[in-house]
Amino acid sequence: MITLGIETSCDETGVSITSAERVLSNVVTSSVHLHKKYGGVVPEIASRYHLEYMIEVFSGAIEASGKSSKDIDLVAVTNGPGLVGALLIGISMAKSVSYALGVPLIGVNHILAHLYSSFLTEEDIAFPFIGLVVSGGHTALFYCRDVGDQEILGQTQDDAVGEAYDKVAKILGLGYPGGPVIEKRASAGSREDNTITFPRSYLGKDSLDFSYSGLKTAVLYYAQKTKNPDRRIINDICRAFQEAALDVLVDKACLACNMRGVKKIVVGGGVAANSRLRNKLSSAAKESDIKVYFPEMRYCMDNAAMIGVLGEALYKKGYRSDIYLTAEPNLEARS
Ligand code: KG4
Ligand code: ZN
Repeated sequence: MITLGIETSCDETGVSITSAERVLSNVVTSSVHLHKKYGGVVPEIASRYHLEYMIEVFSGAIEASGKSSKDIDLVAVTNGPGLVGALLIGISMAKSVSYALGVPLIGVNHILAHLYSSFLTEEDIAFPFIGLVVSGGHTALFYCRDVGDQEILGQTQDDAVGEAYDKVAKILGLGYPGGPVIEKRASAGSREDNTITFPRSYLGKDSLDFSYSGLKTAVLYYAQKTKNPDRRIINDICRAFQEAALDVLVDKACLACNMRGVKKIVVGGGVAANSRLRNKLSSAAKESDIKVYFPEMRYCMDNAAMIGVLGEALYKKGYRSDIYLTAEPNLEARS
């Protein structure tokens, strides 16, 4: 089966051709450079960019796959959560292709799709597993029983972890997006005499929910009281922030495994690209004999291949959408 995947929930325009878990092509272009000066994604700019580049990205994905549009058997598209205008561009394109080719259409949840990025390169991921989604918009833990059958165990009550990286970068004047630059500055700030620490928010001993707004505010107050912080101090703040942000993720992912008696964690989302998270989680999990799966770097950020792989798996389980599929900006990852 040949699946066309389309992703336009935020600032990446992505189109892919996949077949089961094999990626034949995965083309992504991003409007991130246009949002930089605003310190965050401007929805209208993102939508216009999707509109401008959709056809080019679509043609590029078909060409790179070595297939023709006539080979497409299924169209999978992100229908939420995300920016409504941005989602609508992808959905309109998906409906047009599905209608023109007379092939089925399936709407895919973007948050859950992040968990399927690891399936694109890993062969042996068997259910059940604990899914940890760490992106710019979401931070959540799932108990995944099967494709389309998951339970949400906990999620952020305020900011997402990626959002915290972005806001802290803004506070420190480091630009947007915050993740990569904070990771870089944090590794430069690993001095022995770094005494800065920030609070870790656990929300109770057995809670699997997250909260990142307190940590962000703690960084803000620290930055405000530090007059003219030099490069070294900013590096130290980045390091202290990152350690606090990641410790909670690591501890709660391992706690979820213990609570559910599961020995596998599958991680997805932009923050999964963070090497410190990869190291910390892998070593903590190893101590409890838990195996951790991270997506390859190129599949951590938003892309269409993860939409295609989940869409096809759902289709094979009997799930279908129709021409009335709509954009659902607040779509939840329900069971
Ligand atoms: O999954 P994604 O591409 O978009 C959403 O679905 O939200 O994630 C983007 C987020 C941004 O907040 C960005 O700062 C963060 O992922 N990010 C990182 C890193 N690379 C990207 N966070 C921490 N460390 C990184 N290396
Ligand atoms: Zn995403």
